[in-house]
Amino acid sequence: MLQSFVYQSLPSRVVFGAGSLGQLEAELDALGVQRALLLSTPQQRHAAEAMAQRLGTRSAGVFDRAVMHVPIETARAARQVARERGADCAIAIGGGSTIGLGKAIALDSGLPILAVPTTYAGSEMTPIYGITEDGEKRTGSDAKVLPRTVIYDPELTCSLPVELSVTSGINAIAHAAEGLYAASGNPVTRLMAQEGIRALAAGLPGIRANPHDIEARGSALYGAWLCGTVLAHGGMALHHKLCHTLGGSFNLPHAQTHTVVLPYVLSFNAPFAEDAMRDMARALGTPDSAAAGAWDLAHGNGAPTSLRELGMSEAELERAADIATQRPYWNPRPLDRAAVRAVLQAAYEGARPS
Ligand SMILES: NC(=O)c1ccc[n+]([C@@H]2O[C@H](COP(=O)([O-])OP(=O)(O)OC[C@H]3O[C@@H](n4cnc5c(N)ncnc54)[C@H](O)[C@@H]3O)[C@@H](O)[C@H]2O)c1
Repeated sequence: MLQSFVYQSLPSRVVFGAGSLGQLEAELDALGVQRALLLSTPQQRHAAEAMAQRLGTRSAGVFDRAVMHVPIETARAARQVARERGADCAIAIGGGSTIGLGKAIALDSGLPILAVPTTYAGSEMTPIYGITEDGEKRTGSDAKVLPRTVIYDPELTCSLPVELSVTSGINAIAHAAEGLYAASGNPVTRLMAQEGIRALAAGLPGIRANPHDIEARGSALYGAWLCGTVLAHGGMALHHKLCHTLGGSFNLPHAQTHTVVLPYVLSFNAPFAEDAMRDMARALGTPDSAAAGAWDLAHGNGAPTSLRELGMSEAELERAADIATQRPYWNPRPLDRAAVRAVLQAAYEGARPS
């Protein structure tokens, strides 16, 4: 029997397709804005500059200081530049770090954000923000920070290095995986999760074979959109808690950490989330378990599979287990510190889950 559920749709507009960046001006018109501040990382300044040139007088210039985890000082500086230059909108071109900076501006000023994602992290679809102050990342959820318009143009992702493409894609898959067994799950997000995983699993090998394969890039970006939407509906569990711990307190790289940790959390949760695991294995196209399928997708496409490879020391696992169990997220399988420590040990070693 179909169970009762709540489904809350989120008000964002998605423009998808190869070459869709060509619709940027029309999308600014649709938002009713005149002058956009362009946000990027230093590495992607050239992409923001090209956009600024194209926008001419509608550009309020480029702010290229986006970095991982949105330091409060950077957010304040960007807000000030937006004010001084009379921007009535911000365009974030980049991955989760740049879109996170856009969200920090929107949180304070209410400026509408137009996001042009160039990774598969999925932040553009969520009202979740994170700002780091005095070494601590504060996260929250606010409808104001949800980008109003998202332009997904697969052509812009062709420059994303293969290893980051694979790990960022598996980062997206992790959102869908935890969405599949979320207590807040519903039939619509479950459909999105399965289709998102399928599209990413189909796209990543093609990207590895040819990073400019626009079909494969399109499939992965479409999957990233769906998985980001699943994340926006809540349902982060043990996997996300561990990744937030490892990224926030041990400075491990975001997408790679998600890639390494996912198979071991799936393996741990499997007996308590059998339907979700079956759906995930089918979406991955593996005859094996979801955990083994996730590991194969990473390993088969040259991604790291162990925390050891990411530079973590075995001794640090103790502190990671302490932090991850302090304020645990809901999880389908009840857990204690020993269980979390065992999952971390497995992720440290990186063997294929049986
Ligand atoms: N709030 C949310 O809902 C949410 C969701 C997912 C991730 N995040 C946050 O996003 C951050 C991670 O984002 P990310 O994994 O997208 O990485 P990122 O934004 O930090 O990008 C990683 C690097 O790749 C470069 N890059 C991005 N796209 C490129 C492209 N197409 N070509 C060449 N280089 C490119 C960037 O300039 C950067 O140097 C974390 O801080 C994470 O917490 C937030």
